[in-house]
Amino acid sequence: MSRSAHPAGPRHADVLTEGHYSAPAADLNVLDEKVWSRTVTRDADGALTVGGITVARLAEEFGTPAYFLDESDFRARCRAWADAFGPDADVFYAGKAFLSRAVVRWLKEEGLNLDVCSGGELTTALDAGMPAERIAFHGNNKTVAEIERAVEAGVGRIVLDSFQEIVRVAHIAQRHGVRQRVQIRVTVGVEAHTHEFIATAHEDQKFGIALADGQAAEAVRRALSLDGLDLIGVHSHIGSQIFDMAGFEVSARRVVQLLAEIRDEHGVELPEIDLGGGLGIAYTSEDDPREPHEIAKALSDIVTRECESAKLRTPRISVEPGRAIVGPTAFTLYEVGTIKPLEGLRTYVSVDGGMSDNIRTALYDAEYSVALVSRTSDAEPMLVRVVGKHCESGDIVVKDAFLPADLAPGDLIAVPATGAYCRSMASNYNHALRPPVVAVRDGEARVIVRRETEEDLLRLDVG
Ligand code: LLP
Repeated sequence: MSRSAHPAGPRHADVLTEGHYSAPAADLNVLDEKVWSRTVTRDADGALTVGGITVARLAEEFGTPAYFLDESDFRARCRAWADAFGPDADVFYAGKAFLSRAVVRWLKEEGLNLDVCSGGELTTALDAGMPAERIAFHGNNKTVAEIERAVEAGVGRIVLDSFQEIVRVAHIAQRHGVRQRVQIRVTVGVEAHTHEFIATAHEDQKFGIALADGQAAEAVRRALSLDGLDLIGVHSHIGSQIFDMAGFEVSARRVVQLLAEIRDEHGVELPEIDLGGGLGIAYTSEDDPREPHEIAKALSDIVTRECESAKLRTPRISVEPGRAIVGPTAFTLYEVGTIKPLEGLRTYVSVDGGMSDNIRTALYDAEYSVALVSRTSDAEPMLVRVVGKHCESGDIVVKDAFLPADLAPGDLIAVPATGAYCRSMASNYNHALRPPVVAVRDGEARVIVRRETEEDLLRLDVG
C-alpha cells in the first residue's frame, strides 16, 4: 500500500508528526480521474455524477451509506482484460472481490470466466447462469459437500490446495464416473511487496503446496496417478494489491521450471498455467497501476521466453484479477453526521457507515481518498480523519485526507475505489445494516444487492 511523507497541509500542520498523508490537491474540487470510475464527473452545479445521475438524486432514492457501481466501467474493464490476453488465454474474474447475480451476468456477456472460492459463490455463479465449464473452484479447505457440488455441476477446474484434497477430489470424481480437470496450486516462494495478510506465495502460510522442498513435485506424482483426476496445469497466486511485475515474473519462471521437471519425469507437458490475480489499483493519486495490456505482455513474454529455453510448448495462460476489474468501478457514498475539530490534532468527520462497510483500513492499514461530492467549495483544505459510527476507535474509513473547511453535517462525501473487498467483507458489527450495491448505467440506477433491513437481522435471530 502506498505511503508517503509530504509537507504538512495548511491546518493542524505543526503538530502532525506521523506524516502519512499527502499534501492537499491544489483544488479539492477537481476529481483525480485515476481513482474515480470512468463515467464520474461533476455537473454544472458541482455535484458529482456517475452514469449521468447526480449523487444527490442517488442519495435521495437509495439512501446512504451505499455503494454505487459504474456498470459500463465494469464491462469496459472486463473487455480490456479479455482483449489484452486474447483468444489463447483465459481471464477468470475473482468473485471474492465482489459477486452478485448481476455481476455474473455481466461477466458471462463480456466473455469472462469466474473463480469462486466457496459453496456460496458457486451457488451464486450457477444460479445466475454462468456455464459450469467457465468456473474455477478455489480454496484451501473446501468441504466434501462443496467438492461434491462442484464435481456434480461440472466445473471447468478445481484448484487443488493440499495432499488431502488431491485424494478427496479424486474419490468424489470417481464416484461420479468423471475425470475432474484440476490444477495444483503451488507456493513459489516469492515475497510479494504488499501487506502481510494479503501476500500468499511465501512458504510460511496456509495456501498451496511448496515448490521448494519437492512437495509440489510429489503432489503432481500423486495427481497423475489417480484415475479421477485430469491434471491440466499448475497454479500460482502471489498476493494482492501488487504493482511490481517482478514477483509475477519470478513466479512464472518457477512454474515453467516445474512444467519442465514434470515433462522430464513423466513425459507429459501440462497444457496450462494460471498466474493468479493480485494486480494493484489506484486508491490514492500516488498509486500507478499497470494497464491490462502491459500486464498481459509482460506475463506472456516471460512465459514464452522461459518455455523456449526449457524447450516446452508454451502453455495456455490464465489469470484471475478481482480487484483490478471491480475495485475502481464503485464508490461509497456517505452522509456527514458530526464534525469534531480537535485543536492541534485533526478534525474527525463521522459518517453514517464505517468499518462495517469498509474493513480494509482497519485490517490492512489501507489508504483511500475522499471528496466532498454534493457541492463544490472554495474553502481552505482541512486535514481530516473520516470515521464511522461504530463503537470502536479503530473504526476509520480514511485515515488522513483533506476536505474543505466549510464541510457541514448533511454534506455528502464519497470514497472512491471501494468496488473490491468492501461489500464482500462487510459485516453486521453493532447490528449495522449492510449497504446496498446500486448499479448505474446510462442515466439509470438499479439496486443489484439490496440494503439489509432490521427484519433481516431479526430473521436470523431465532432464540
Ligand atoms: N486468485 C486467487 C487464488 C486469490 O486468492 C485471489 C485473492 C485472487 C485471485 C484475486 O486477487 P485480486 O486480483 O483481487 O487482488 N481482502 C483482501 C484481498 C484478499 C485477496 C484474496 N485472494 C483486500 O481487501 O485487499
